[in-house]
Amino acid sequence: MLLQLQNVVAGYLKTVDVLQGLSLQVEEAEIVCLIGPNGAGKSTVLRTISGLLTPSKGSVVFDGQDISGVRPDLVLQHGVAHVPQGHSSFPEMSLLENLLMGAYTVSDKALVNRRLEAVYELFPWFRDRAKQRAGNLSGGQQKLLEIGRALMLEPRMMLLDEPSLGLDPKKSHTVFDTISRLRDETGITVLMVEQNARSGLGISDRGYVLELGRERLERSASELLDDPRVAQLYLGGGIDDTLQA
Ligand SMILES: Nc1ncnc2c1ncn2[C@@H]1O[C@H](COP(=O)(O)OP(=O)(O)OP(=O)(O)O)[C@@H](O)[C@H]1O
Ligand SMILES: [Mg+2]
Repeated sequence: MLLQLQNVVAGYLKTVDVLQGLSLQVEEAEIVCLIGPNGAGKSTVLRTISGLLTPSKGSVVFDGQDISGVRPDLVLQHGVAHVPQGHSSFPEMSLLENLLMGAYTVSDKALVNRRLEAVYELFPWFRDRAKQRAGNLSGGQQKLLEIGRALMLEPRMMLLDEPSLGLDPKKSHTVFDTISRLRDETGITVLMVEQNARSGLGISDRGYVLELGRERLERSASELLDDPRVAQLYLGGGIDDTLQA
């Protein structure tokens, strides 16, 4: 098991626990998808793993080491990269500058160049647009750039928070395709949150349904896609409001 969360309790305020004893695990080279209604705590799970939040109870273990409450930069050093919800590229900087920002902690120039070449190999169009302002890229291209930037530190695991948010179906498809290809080509482990449950589960090995800060259901992705409860709540057009009442 590469990542294991056990009975994690965490939140933003001392008086309110968002995660209420959540347990989940991710195996090496797996793609695991978290689905659930707005406010269920999906982003909070990723923030707790990446060290932005410290659990008050329970543990986060990565590759056999307890990283609960470890600072975000050190979690990154352990090999866990977090691509947050929304846009996180630097719009005024060029595509290349954005990629280099991903490796600003690496002082070995030759190493940075080798990683840049590896990222260019995965995303050949980056090279052609290296000088283009990131803010002028399309939403889908910016998301791929954020993923590329995270890859500059050669993480073993990637936490992706709603990578298809705000993208049209075609661009979402490209992003999902890229995540799937990345795992197949590099063996990277992915824990992804997706509102677009059908597409997210479509490229995943397993999934968890999160509700009220706990895992309610854990199944293979294909079982979740076939589960009538999941279909009714998460595979329709949009988000089902009844669950939030
Ligand atoms: N910075 C914050 N300060 C205080 N409360 C927060 C903060 N961020 C999130 N919350 C609360 O934590 C709960 C879970 O939020 P979280 O962002 O993890 O949900 P989510 O499942 O990712 O939802 P969405 O699908 O809308 O992204 C919500 O009730 C939210 O209001
Ligand atoms: Mg969220």
